Amino acid sequence: MTGNLKTLHRSAWKCPSNIALVKYWGKRDFQKPMNPSLSFVLQNAFTETSVELHKNGDQKVAFYFDGKPGPFGERIEKYLEYVSCKLPWISKYNFTIFSKNSFPHSAGIASSASSFGALALCLTELDFSFSGRETASADFWREASELARMGSGSACRSVYSGFSIWGQTQLFESSSDDFAIRLTDGVSPIFQGLRDAILLVDSGKKEVSSSAGHQLMEQHIYQRSRIAQATENVNELYLALISGDQQKFVQVVEAEALSLHAMMMTSSPSFILLKPNSLEIMNRIRRFREKTQIPVCFTIDAGPNIHLLYFQGNELDVKAFIDRELLQFCEDGNWIDDRIGSGPQPVTI
Ligand code: PMV
Repeated sequence: MTGNLKTLHRSAWKCPSNIALVKYWGKRDFQKPMNPSLSFVLQNAFTETSVELHKNGDQKVAFYFDGKPGPFGERIEKYLEYVSCKLPWISKYNFTIFSKNSFPHSAGIASSASSFGALALCLTELDFSFSGRETASADFWREASELARMGSGSACRSVYSGFSIWGQTQLFESSSDDFAIRLTDGVSPIFQGLRDAILLVDSGKKEVSSSAGHQLMEQHIYQRSRIAQATENVNELYLALISGDQQKFVQVVEAEALSLHAMMMTSSPSFILLKPNSLEIMNRIRRFREKTQIPVCFTIDAGPNIHLLYFQGNELDVKAFIDRELLQFCEDGNWIDDRIGSGPQPVTI
């Protein structure tokens, strides 16, 4: 029940954020990727969302973030309007949506993947219940992934556990530009215990948004080579994941992070999202790896924060390294201790 409106239908989901190892950068058509990408979901960084449907409200969408009327209501209303071509029942209801993140808004972590992932899962569950379809099916996850993609491209990779691939690749016939697929079989157990220390370098607002960055790929001088490189890197990384090749993993993951930022630096106009402290951390991670031979590496999203990836068996050494050498370069010493996650879940909130 929302105020004095009778809730007719309800769905609530918790959905994780994800971090790309091979980066999606550049769009085709509507929210389709220029190149395939490969990512894994996190365990501790997630969004919880509930969707309540009612009739007779005076507002199409009432959106609450952390219990207060949220700033994203308009974007969500537009999104609902867009996906109503797939889900015609949307036009018959008014929506009350509550959403909250497990991580602070100021952390500088993009929340669009987990937010649109959670919202898409709620919509998919409602859609399946209206059409009397069984939710325990591959179709359910595919539809959720496709709806999430329409909100924010990378969100389509958040609806699964572990690793997933988005975008057409010769590796899997079932791969698609419309939705992500989960890498179910064959990933070596070494990678099932992957750790991600998110080192928060700067929480300030980004100078250039991801959507503006994607757009700059349309005329980018290196567009073709970037697409070829990412396609090749998905193949290489997949091979590393199934063969348990940590060296290859480290090499491909760092090359991808640097290539993403190289695209930003060489676009026209060009922009730089890395900060001096991001570079210092990257250099120290490489030095630590060379000195200790412990397989650690960095990856970076469209921002200055550094994700330090490492393996379960090296946890004590790597955490001591973070304390000793890296926290001094984080804003207020902030970091998030995360790991590969078990995927979304329905919730009661
Ligand atoms: O989903 P978007 O439009 O926020 O773009 C995400 C782009 C990167 O995070 C930089 C890369 C990726 O594949 O997630």
